[in-house]
Amino acid sequence: MQDSSQTLSMSGMRPTGQLHLGHLFGTLALWTQASEMEGAFFEIADLHAFTTSYANPQLIHDMRQELLLDWLAAGVDPNKATIFLQSAIPEISELNTILAMILPVAWLQRVPTYKEQIAALGPEIATYGFLGYPLLQLCDIAVFRAHRVPVGKDQLSHLELGREIIRRFNHFYGDVLVEPQALLSAFPDVPGTDGRKMSKSYHNTIAIADDAATTQQKIRGMITDPQKIRKNDPGHPEICPVFKLHTMVNAERTPAISEDCKSGALGCVACKTELSEKLTSHLAPIRARRHELAQDPAKLERILSTGNQRAREAASTTLHDVRTALKIGN
Ligand code: TRP
Repeated sequence: MQDSSQTLSMSGMRPTGQLHLGHLFGTLALWTQASEMEGAFFEIADLHAFTTSYANPQLIHDMRQELLLDWLAAGVDPNKATIFLQSAIPEISELNTILAMILPVAWLQRVPTYKEQIAALGPEIATYGFLGYPLLQLCDIAVFRAHRVPVGKDQLSHLELGREIIRRFNHFYGDVLVEPQALLSAFPDVPGTDGRKMSKSYHNTIAIADDAATTQQKIRGMITDPQKIRKNDPGHPEICPVFKLHTMVNAERTPAISEDCKSGALGCVACKTELSEKLTSHLAPIRARRHELAQDPAKLERILSTGNQRAREAASTTLHDVRTALKIGN
């Protein structure tokens, strides 16, 4: 058996919005696999949320409880994993200051998300902190010496930069920090209601926290194969987002649905009704758990404060070794 410290996982999300099926079938599916969850660290990245929402601290504060509810409802087990709040772990910010000293600015400017996000969100987000986003993310991971980072593929460029920074650090100061590897979900991208990738910024999501009626309504409005206009027209399931969602929650019926769509025996209205039913029953226990947990804020606080304490203990060991290697502090 592998030493558990060899396979330690760490990941995080920003408390900036409601989680949706893209998260549930992607990253959260990875997080909740028993092998990833045992001893893992999962972070509510509230400092990272300030890179885009710095003018709205109340929103960030409120969203952190929503994020925690989504995680717990989806099956993240606080008895197996350590769930913590980034801003409660000062060691992360300390490591960020230290690693900033050896990180060439050009490395950060080369990260593709940097220019893309500024183009998408405007010059107000072009702060020093935003440029340093991938460094802070690396510190989240490195402070626990985590090896594996279960994330979406949009995070690959951050992890690649992260490994380069760690190599530079270890080159100067000895083998103190660990190079993290991404762990990608086996699920394909989850399509949103308009057929593009499900994403908050496209307003095409089905949220974990939505109710059954809202889910039904969103599915009814979904885009299907544009060539299938009347019920009996032959369809092309391979390009249909409704079909793709069937493959995720209705796997045993997928071959029959594909055949009947192609032959024209199955119309889009009936196909969507079936998807609504399957998806609603798949989500029902998750939504019930979310609702129940939301009634018990004291429990949520307990989970977070226990997690914060465990995370700080682990982080302070790493910082001790880092300070020793740099001959700083005491
Ligand atoms: N950047 C990640 C995202 O946008 C969130 C994140 C913050 C993260 N810190 C992390 C992910 C550490 C993995 C590990 O989804």
